[in-house]
Amino acid sequence: MADTHRINFEPVDIDMEVREDESILDAAFRQGIHLMHGCREGRCSACKSFVLDGDIQMENYSTFACNESEVDEGFVLLCRTHAYSDCTIELLNFDEDELLGGLPIQDVTTRVVAVESMTGDIVSLRLAPTAPEGFQFKAGQYADLHLPGTEETRSFSMASTPSSPGDVEFLIKKYPGGKFAALLDDGISVGDEIALTGPYGSSTLKDGHVLPVVCIGGGAGMAPILSLVRHMSETSNPRPVHFYYGARTPEDLFYIDEISEVGRGLTDFAFIACVSDAAGAQGSGSLSFEEGNVTDVVRRLEPGIAKSEVYLCGPPPMVDAALELLDVCGTPKDQVFYDKFTSPAFD
Ligand SMILES: Cc1cc2nc3c(=O)[nH]c(=O)nc-3n(C[C@H](O)[C@H](O)[C@H](O)COP(=O)(O)OP(=O)(O)OC[C@H]3O[C@@H](n4cnc5c(N)ncnc54)[C@H](O)[C@@H]3O)c2cc1C
Ligand code: FES
Repeated sequence: MADTHRINFEPVDIDMEVREDESILDAAFRQGIHLMHGCREGRCSACKSFVLDGDIQMENYSTFACNESEVDEGFVLLCRTHAYSDCTIELLNFDEDELLGGLPIQDVTTRVVAVESMTGDIVSLRLAPTAPEGFQFKAGQYADLHLPGTEETRSFSMASTPSSPGDVEFLIKKYPGGKFAALLDDGISVGDEIALTGPYGSSTLKDGHVLPVVCIGGGAGMAPILSLVRHMSETSNPRPVHFYYGARTPEDLFYIDEISEVGRGLTDFAFIACVSDAAGAQGSGSLSFEEGNVTDVVRRLEPGIAKSEVYLCGPPPMVDAALELLDVCGTPKDQVFYDKFTSPAFD
């Protein structure tokens, strides 16, 4: 049995215990304490905190998430940190409502209900929980799907909403050579079992906030944003929403009609499709889009973004470019929520 130590979190004055063989983030989840987090793999920096006192070690993390001089100063990524004495840790970023009020992590058995191609490389995967018969999550969160017959998991954001806990949709980009991608090509069929663990993620809609919402997504980053806008529409949320979606070509755009329909349930909704490679596009029918990459289009069309709450999801280069833009525009960090779709294959 591994030794245990006590952790005190400041400035919230919450105590918990941690075993030496678990990360501080996992120990917190186990005890119902929901610290800020993103990837849970040392790649995104969402869990970055400061050690005020105690003996810790960090392992397997990206220096992009926490660089050497930060480590020397005492910054740590809690998802990759083990404690070897009692510690006091300062949380740099936390959500008071979530801290003790987050949903418990659930282990759920599901069955595949549908596997449907949306574009050349994005697939909609729908799962029906069977034990228990529903999966509770908040719009904007993600779950770990287990690769059958292995210990490996991949994280995917829910595109559906908490109102359908028995029919959970994911939008998954297939990378050539990807293990989960291969599963979608010919490894799973309707009726097969897939285990799911979650929910994880801190990019949820905050109760009581009133600022206009700007969503910026790229590729499969459509998923959590669709969940957020679907949820806002279902709950008649009165906040204005501008949804910018970046795709490479017009053929990579999908769910356009569905998004217009969702927008009808909102008071002030705009969907702006952005296409970075429009060469050869037919410019046909009702499909209209802005040319350029999504960050440049946001820079052009959202002069008031400093006074908005911003949700970002998609590939790391897109999220990094958008974070840079928001910094230049002066959007306060506590108005920005993001999930970088990092992969275990990259550091
Ligand atoms: C919080 C979070 C939420 C996520 N949500 C989603 C989601 O909703 N939808 C979704 O599709 N993905 C999402 N991801 C990414 C997902 O978890 C996988 O990493 C990704 O789908 C690749 O899995 P794979 O098993 O197919 O490929 P892997 O077997 O992990 O990788 C094999 C190869 O695929 C290629 N590859 C993998 N990822 C990338 C990349 N980002 N860029 C370029 N090449 C790559 C590389 O060639 C790599 O060597 C999320 C990740 C995180 C951390
Ligand atoms: S670096 Fe810890 S959650 Fe991403």
